[in-house]
Amino acid sequence: MKDYYKDKTVLVTGHTGFKGSWLAIWLLEMGAKVVGYALDPLHDMDNFIVTGLSNRMVDIRGDIRDAEKLKDVFSKYQPEIVFHLAAQPLVRLSYDIPVETYQVNVIGTINIMEAIRTTNSAKIAVLITTDKCYENKEQIWGYRENDAMGGHDPYSSSKGACEIAINSWRKSYFNVNEYEQHGKSIASARAGNVIGGGDWSVDRLIPDCIKSILQDLPIEIRNPQATRPWEHVLEPLSGYLLLAYKMSQDPVKYAEGWNFGPDYDAIITVKDLAEKIINYYGKGKLALGSEKAVLHEANLLALDVSKSRIKLGWTPTLSIEQAVELTVDWYKNYQNQEPYDICVEQINKFIETES
Ligand SMILES: NC(=O)c1ccc[n+]([C@@H]2O[C@H](COP(=O)([O-])OP(=O)(O)OC[C@H]3O[C@@H](n4cnc5c(N)ncnc54)[C@H](O)[C@@H]3O)[C@@H](O)[C@H]2O)c1
Repeated sequence: MKDYYKDKTVLVTGHTGFKGSWLAIWLLEMGAKVVGYALDPLHDMDNFIVTGLSNRMVDIRGDIRDAEKLKDVFSKYQPEIVFHLAAQPLVRLSYDIPVETYQVNVIGTINIMEAIRTTNSAKIAVLITTDKCYENKEQIWGYRENDAMGGHDPYSSSKGACEIAINSWRKSYFNVNEYEQHGKSIASARAGNVIGGGDWSVDRLIPDCIKSILQDLPIEIRNPQATRPWEHVLEPLSGYLLLAYKMSQDPVKYAEGWNFGPDYDAIITVKDLAEKIINYYGKGKLALGSEKAVLHEANLLALDVSKSRIKLGWTPTLSIEQAVELTVDWYKNYQNQEPYDICVEQINKFIETES
């Protein structure tokens, strides 16, 4: 896989964000030429800023809703592979800005597919949605790739709508039966709740825990009993990278939707994860009973990853303890050690554990 990415031009949308910055670093380490397209980072301490990524890749600031600018970028840089991560990714914020959430997530994804459609160089695309794209039945079993799309809140339903649009474009313009004519392979990827260093987003558990610990404040958690499929950021990224590589080998077979979630031992409650963070950090306390009046968020959410295991040969690598350890280590060390080096060390450690 490493050789596959060497010297390839890869477009990553959302490279200034949490997952996109880690993906850009991993691709750079494999020798890819990385072009990023996103809005400005939101916080001074974001992984993108502290790792100095802007100087290591082509860093383009633009709105995913700006279809013309996006097409110009495709035309100028001629990417072969596209990873689309740019999105409004927050459930609670989506209640405040539902229209913008839909415009960015759904129209943004359509704009990307249109740019791919009209750019000859673009052959492979992995479009990132989420575990929340499925119609949530509050069931104990994990969702499978062929389950119905849905979503209660505007974020989740916008991602379900992205999946429907991706499927439509795949049937209409990137149909696998007509691959010889269009030469493009488009897949979607649904990951769980991602944790890792360098995320300072609002209303996400890890940044909330770290910010409270750093300020010696009690950690207030919403929905303490809600379960989520937690996974370290490198887990889904390894899935996206493997998927694009497999698509290059067999563009027809892998042009589908794929789940990249953790093993069942990592499907734990919000409270249990917060306690693991505190234990590993060696500091912090939960403000129990502080649960704020909540907007609706799913309670039970798990992904079935059998298809990715069997057909792609992808499997989750880290235990929940290892994922927490890597995450906390990043936040403990990013002010004393070069953050880019921390990320590279963690990527190498992950690859070692994988093999
Ligand atoms: N973090 C998670 O737990 C998680 C879980 C499942 C799926 N996802 C998905 O993974 C992707 C990345 O999530 P993240 O956690 O890195 O989010 P993030 O908020 O850290 O990053 C979002 C990125 O999208 C860019 N962006 C937002 N609006 C844009 C716009 N209008 N035009 C161009 N760029 C825009 C931002 O600039 C940023 O680079 C998203 O699609 C998200 O829905 C995230």
